[in-house]
Amino acid sequence: MTPEIHITSSFSKKNKTQKTAFIYFYLEGKGIHGSISKQLTLLIEKKWKEDSGKKGVRETKHIDLETETGFDHVFVAGLEQKKNQESHVRNTVADVARTAKSLQCTHLVVDVQGLEEYADEVAEGIILGTYEFIEFKSKEIANKISLVKDVTFVSTKNKSQIEKDIMKGIVAGEGVCLTRDLVNTPASHMHPETLVNAAHAISNKSEGRVTVEVLDEKECTKLGMGSFLGVAQGSVRKPAFIVLKYKGIGTKTFTFVGKSITFDSGGLSLKPADAMMDMKMDMSGGASVLGVFEYLARVKPKVGFAHVYGILPACENMPSGNAIKPGDVVTAMNGKTIEVLNTDAEGRLTLADALVYAEQKLNSDYIVDMATLTGACMVALGTDLAGLFSNDSDFTSIIKKAAFDAGDELWELPLYAGYAKQMKSSIADLKNIGGGRYGGAITAAVFLQEFINKAKWIHIDIAGPAHKDGSPKGVSPKGGTGWGVLSIIRFLEGYSHYEDIKASSN
Ligand code: BES
Ligand code: ZN
Ligand code: ZN
Repeated sequence: MTPEIHITSSFSKKNKTQKTAFIYFYLEGKGIHGSISKQLTLLIEKKWKEDSGKKGVRETKHIDLETETGFDHVFVAGLEQKKNQESHVRNTVADVARTAKSLQCTHLVVDVQGLEEYADEVAEGIILGTYEFIEFKSKEIANKISLVKDVTFVSTKNKSQIEKDIMKGIVAGEGVCLTRDLVNTPASHMHPETLVNAAHAISNKSEGRVTVEVLDEKECTKLGMGSFLGVAQGSVRKPAFIVLKYKGIGTKTFTFVGKSITFDSGGLSLKPADAMMDMKMDMSGGASVLGVFEYLARVKPKVGFAHVYGILPACENMPSGNAIKPGDVVTAMNGKTIEVLNTDAEGRLTLADALVYAEQKLNSDYIVDMATLTGACMVALGTDLAGLFSNDSDFTSIIKKAAFDAGDELWELPLYAGYAKQMKSSIADLKNIGGGRYGGAITAAVFLQEFINKAKWIHIDIAGPAHKDGSPKGVSPKGGTGWGVLSIIRFLEGYSHYEDIKASSN
C-alpha cells in the first residue's frame, strides 16, 4: 500500500482519528531543526538531554511529549555530518519511520525545514523503512498489520521545488518497493508472463513514454538465441524476452539488463534443498530493471541518452524430460557455441544472448547488467556487497558515484583475462563453468565478456545483497531489497549526460 503524501508549511494535530508520530531532525553542530515553536524546541532539547544524560548525543531518540504536543509520539532523529550524507539521512529516516510504524502510528509528520537539500532522501527513507509485504497473508492477519496511511512533510521553503524533490523521492522509493514485491513473490505466482504483465503495467502509466516489446519463443529462435532458449526448454512455462524502452535527449544508447530466472532449481544439475529455498529471488536483476522503469514512467526525467533500454530475458530453470542436459551444446546469438557442463550456471547463458541483443539489435554504447549470478561472489564479498566488473574505468567511476549516493554498497573485482582459458571447451568454443571452485564470480564475469564486442560494459553480481535474511535495518528490509534501483535512477538522473562522463569521472 502506498501512503498518501501531503506537503504543508505548518502542521498541528487536529485529527485525533489517526495515531500520529512527529519526526524532527537534530543536526550535528546545528541543534534541532524545524518549524516548531521555540518553546517546544526547548522542551525537546531539555528532554533529550535528560534522557541521554550527556550533551551532544546524536542517536535517534523517541521522546515522550504526548501531553505537551498532542502527538502520540515525537521522535528526534539525530544526524551526523558524514561523507555519505545521502545514505545516512535515508537510513536514519528509515529506522525512525519503521519504529513509528511498529508503534502503530499510521500518520507520520516529518519536519524537513532546513533539511530541504535532502528532501528526496527523507522521502525515500520513509517509503523504504515502512515497507511491508502482506500480499500472501490472509485478510484476517493482514488487517492486524499496521501500515502507514498518510505522510505529511512540513517546510516553509520554496513549495514547488520541495514538492518536486519529495515526489521524486517517493516515486524512487516506490520503484524500489515494486522490485521488492516482485522478488518476494513466490515462484508459484511469478512466471515470465508475470514479468511481462508488470512491464505492461509500467508502460500503461507512462503516457506513452515507456514502450514494451516482448519476444516469444519463436522470435527468439529466429534471432538465434540458443543459449537463452536452452535454459528455458526444461520448463512448462514459456520464456519471454522483454525489452522496455524510454526516450531521452542525448546521442548515445544505454541498456540495463537484469537476470530474470523466475525460479532456479538448478535444472538437471539440481540444487540441494537448502540452496533452492530462496531461488524465487533469481529474477532480482530483472525486478530492478522494472523498478527503474517504474520511476522513468512516472517521473519522466530528462535523461542524457538518446535511448534507455531495459532487458529481461525471463524464464524458469527446471529439470524435466525436455531439459537441457549436462554436456549439451548450445549456440548463442553471436554464433559462439557453449558446452553446458552445469545446468545450474544458467544465468550467464540467458545473459549471453541478452548482451548480444543489446549490442547488435539496440546498438547500445553502454550496458549495465545486474544478476544474482554466483554463490562465489557471496563467498568473496559477503552478503552486503555486490561485486562489480567492468571493461571501462570511466564508466565504472560514474556508476560507483551513483551507487555511493544511493547507499548501494559494492566492491570492484577484477575482470581478469587470465581466467578466460578456464572457460574454453574441448568440443565447443566455450563451456559455462570454470576449472574449479575458486574465483567463480570472476570466471562468470569473464564468460559474459565473451558476449560483449565494443560496448562499455559493467556487470554487477548481486547474489548477496539482492535478498536479506536478517531483521530490517536502515533501508534494508527482510527479503527482497531492491538493490541497485536507486543507483541506476541516480545515474540516469544525475550522471548520464554522457559526453560529460569522462570529465566528471575524475
Ligand atoms: N542463482 C544462482 C546463484 C546464487 C546462489 C544466487 C545463491 C543467490 C544465492 C546461480 O544460477 C548458480 O546456481 N550459480 C552456481 C554456478 C556454478 C554452478 C558454477 C553457483 O554459484 O553455485
Ligand atoms: Zn543456477
Ligand atoms: Zn541462477
